[in-house]
Amino acid sequence: MNNAPIGIFDSGMGGLSVWQEIAEALPDESLIFFGDGARCPYGDRSHDEILQFTIESVARLLDEGCKMIVIACNTATAVAIEYLRQCYPDTPFVGLEPAVKPAALTTKSGTIAVLATARALEGELFLHTSAQFADSVNILKAVGEGFVEIVERGEEYSAEAETAVRSVIEPLIEKGADKIVLGCTHYPFLRPTMERVIGDRDVEVIDSGRAVCRRVAQLLDEYDLRAEQGSEPLYEFMTLGDDDYFDRMIYRAYGCIGEEEAEDDEQTDN
Ligand code: DGL
Repeated sequence: MNNAPIGIFDSGMGGLSVWQEIAEALPDESLIFFGDGARCPYGDRSHDEILQFTIESVARLLDEGCKMIVIACNTATAVAIEYLRQCYPDTPFVGLEPAVKPAALTTKSGTIAVLATARALEGELFLHTSAQFADSVNILKAVGEGFVEIVERGEEYSAEAETAVRSVIEPLIEKGADKIVLGCTHYPFLRPTMERVIGDRDVEVIDSGRAVCRRVAQLLDEYDLRAEQGSEPLYEFMTLGDDDYFDRMIYRAYGCIGEEEAEDDEQTDN
């Protein structure tokens, strides 16, 4: 039993898609979300920059007493997770990688598409998993150009978002993809727009949210770190962004729950 929080890190607000899944699946667990915000997007940055930013952010979460760290960012996972595991061998880490396997196992057309940042598509884990299915499945790779910025601005229902999504997704569907794997934690916020663009075509959008929750639960058991059943979870938020960024982060996190409840829980750290 351990009531310490789970730390969840992302370059910005995208990791809140993972935060929401974990909060729902593991309602006893306290969570600290750290969205860098000031240096987002990470996707086009150099390997060394991403590594440095991720190390700094994880150190902050560990200083807060987190018992486990979820790198809710495919890009940071691709660059930094192995290094972090070596630095902190006693801390369980969960990373994000594109859900290639379920897509490859269920495709009917034999073609799947993976959408991610340029840096995440270079990640060893992704390359390794893709190679495993390369003989049986055609894997198309595409960068969601502009997607991260649109989500950071909270404009995922705008005309610009629809144009950006259409220009990335249409060519993939034309090439036969019937599964679109979201390999960036910002992209699930664009899912409704993607589904509108897909329309009634037989194309499924797949993200990693559920798989990450299963892995977190598994590690909590393995390390005997579950919070006491029925305990009141605390949700805290940290960012390097400004006050406006912090407010928008809270608003996105809580989505439809009352503002008062959100205010009770929030902690500013910018
Ligand atoms: N949310 C991120 C990911 O999953 C990072 C996007 C970015 O900062 O470019 O890759």
